[in-house]
Amino acid sequence: MSAKVVVVGSLNMDLVARAQRLPRPGETLAGEQFFTVPGGKGANQAVAVARLGASVAMVGNVGDDAYGQQLRQALQAEGVECQAVSVCPGSSSGVALITVDAASQNCIVIIPGGNGLLTPASVQRFDALLQAAEVIICQLEVPAETVAWTLARGRELGKQVILNPAPATGPLPPDWFANIDYLTPNESEARALTGEPVTDLDSARRAGERLLHMGAGKVIVTLGAQGALLVERDGSRHFPAPHVRPLDTTAAGDTFIGGFAAALVQGQTQDQAIAFGQRAAALSVTRAGAQPSIPYLAQLIP
Ligand code: RIB
Repeated sequence: MSAKVVVVGSLNMDLVARAQRLPRPGETLAGEQFFTVPGGKGANQAVAVARLGASVAMVGNVGDDAYGQQLRQALQAEGVECQAVSVCPGSSSGVALITVDAASQNCIVIIPGGNGLLTPASVQRFDALLQAAEVIICQLEVPAETVAWTLARGRELGKQVILNPAPATGPLPPDWFANIDYLTPNESEARALTGEPVTDLDSARRAGERLLHMGAGKVIVTLGAQGALLVERDGSRHFPAPHVRPLDTTAAGDTFIGGFAAALVQGQTQDQAIAFGQRAAALSVTRAGAQPSIPYLAQLIP
């Protein structure tokens, strides 16, 4: 069976330390807990799609190491189609060093490993997956030229194209925008893309309008506890977030995007899909870790 959603992106092994607070530069800080879990923005989004009820294929790279095998197995165990997850000889797998503080905030350092070797040609090899999909999702943890190629191919094939601009370090190349149906930055990513601080609904709306002006189809700014703001050409709409006590926000954005895409391909309306993604993300922040925190469909049914 062909997958309705294709995720082109990263797989990382997350090495997670929990501490009361994040360390300052030059400081050695005693933490409280350490665990290793599968992550990576691309893989997290693929797992979220699968757990939330839609068929999904992953296109990405792992290294030829034990982490690579574990990352692939973690996806397969969730029913993610992995024929396009390739092993890069002589490379390590992507790794993310994550610190989470008592207020559930995190900081992350990523080492790309195999993710950095995902070329346009290596995605093109699996063009049949793109052709068969309804929705194609990209993030920014693989080379920019590969993201650019995939967005353009998705547009050429007439698919719904979602770009999660994470992690964002600055403005996107102008020629990407026409190939994006949904651009989904959080506050800090919206700031990186527009140069304007985003802290509340008003500033999120202004950022969204700028990104529309640059050419994005629609923008969904995710604002954590403040919910999400959909910005379209004919106006904007706020979706309040379900109220929860956060434990760890790692992969909350990934869960939102996976839930949103899964709901879209299952025939829900755009607004229903946003609300569904938010419910899934809200549950994920009450749990620790990236992929272990992503809920299953049955856990969201009231
Ligand atoms: O979005 C969360 C993810 O960011 C983590 O799983 C980590 O691997 C980094 O890619």
